[in-house]
Amino acid sequence: MKVSVKVPATSANIGPGFDCLGLALPIYNEITVEETVLPGSGVEIDVIDDNTAYDVISVPKDENNIAYKAIELLYNFLGQTVSDIKITIKTNIPVARGLGSSASVIVGGLVAANELLGRPSDNALLLSIASEVEGHPDNVAPALFGGFCISSVEDDGSVSYSHIDWPVDWKLTVIIPDYELDTRISRSVLPESVSISDAAYNVRKCAMLIDSVYKSDAELMKKCLKDKLHQPYRENLISGFKETRELLADKDDILGCVISGAGPTILVISKNDGFENVKDDVKKVFEGLNVNCDIRTFNIENEGTKVI
Ligand code: HSE
Repeated sequence: MKVSVKVPATSANIGPGFDCLGLALPIYNEITVEETVLPGSGVEIDVIDDNTAYDVISVPKDENNIAYKAIELLYNFLGQTVSDIKITIKTNIPVARGLGSSASVIVGGLVAANELLGRPSDNALLLSIASEVEGHPDNVAPALFGGFCISSVEDDGSVSYSHIDWPVDWKLTVIIPDYELDTRISRSVLPESVSISDAAYNVRKCAMLIDSVYKSDAELMKKCLKDKLHQPYRENLISGFKETRELLADKDDILGCVISGAGPTILVISKNDGFENVKDDVKKVFEGLNVNCDIRTFNIENEGTKVI
């Protein structure tokens, strides 16, 4: 028996919501989990690149694979051990670009394995296992549930999450460069502690951002896509981020420009087709920096992981 699932890409942080906010995008990985026919064959992992532009050679094909690690944790929680299993990962989500490719394989592995076992685990357990393997919940929550999610790891290790409807006329543009940035490197440049004034700045921006989404208030959102906890430390790792942010500041129908997750993809939020008016100028910024990039505009993906 085998189960396949389709998992969306995600963009985490959304400016001030470091390790807490995230949303789903309509790019998908497909994960299949099956019991292998021959007992004793162990773990088999296949990674199939649906889009030859992305480097999947470095994805581990053994017990170090994060989908396998997540599945093993699920089995352990259920008092079982993983025996002979095959995991197939068909990737479409760019790897190491800040678009939740690792979250998608963790979540996909968990949901598929849970189906295979007859659905013994509820979403709360899947979310907390996924968050533990990923290290933070902001990508795994929207990968699992879709849409715009707020997530929080509680003191007991469980993960709380809320979903808020994203305004239908707010579009999401991702500027995906042709180089990778390992999340571990992007997290290593963050300081151990921050000042109380920087922390307070993010608390108020993040609180107002949530309100602006509730109210579909684009003018309020324009004031909220700002951050002092991670972007100032990461911006030198991300070609074109400062230039794009400056170019788009005060442009009609552009609500803001932030680093997608740990980068290097840049996320631009706009109203309606607002990004179209500035797309050529953005392209020139990256041409000037000799960085090839793929620029794609989407509506939010409101569906999370689906069994296919
Ligand atoms: N919140 C995480 C970070 C997302 O910014 O490091 C990356 O997975």
